Amino acid sequence: MRDEHEIKVWDPLVRLFHWGLVGAFAIAWLTEDEWMDLHAYAGYVIGSLLLVRLAWGLIGTRYARFNDFITSPSSVVGYLKDLMVLRARRYIGHNPAGGAMIVALLLSLLITTLTGMLAYGATGAGPLAAMFFSQAAYGSELFEEVHEFFANFTLLLVLIHLAGVGLGSLVHRENLVRSMVTGTKRV
Ligand code: HEM
Repeated sequence: MRDEHEIKVWDPLVRLFHWGLVGAFAIAWLTEDEWMDLHAYAGYVIGSLLLVRLAWGLIGTRYARFNDFITSPSSVVGYLKDLMVLRARRYIGHNPAGGAMIVALLLSLLITTLTGMLAYGATGAGPLAAMFFSQAAYGSELFEEVHEFFANFTLLLVLIHLAGVGLGSLVHRENLVRSMVTGTKRV
């Protein structure tokens, strides 16, 4: 039974999306150049998770919706300034800086996935490869470069994301990672 001081924040879909993304991203990262079939399938899992999450951002539960956590640049800057002096307000859902980071992660992952399909689909990797044979003759080197750039950029975002989660947990004395596992936070 749930504690009366706890509130449900992350629904099962958000949690499944998050930990599925962590697993698929790790597999894609580790298999790059080494095991192209598995790399392509991990990419398709990431792409499918992104599509589901984008729809859920529009029709999902309260804290999963984009309009709950996408705020103006000035509130992101304001939040970061407050965070630097350890005075940031606590949010039940994503804080403004976390919200901006989520948008950046989703966009960067989307570009990485699409350019991966275009670059490696043309060489026969992945279940939709047949769709990309026609562009094998042109562009795939460019797609490959863009893919690599955004894969590295996503990793950089993930590192900043982890630092943000750590700092947010410290400032508000709560375990944000645990919340992403259980789905609950203290009221
Ligand atoms: C072990 C590593 C990771 C941990 C511990 C972790 C932890 C978290 C936590 C605690 C949150 C919720 C933040 C909040 O309370 O506002 C979150 C959200 C999120 N994280 Fe991570 N994260 C990890 C790796 C990743 C990776 C590798 C990615 C992407 C490739 C990622 C993408 C996201 C996204 C998109 C959200 C927003 C979730 C949503 O609203 O759907 N995370 N993460």
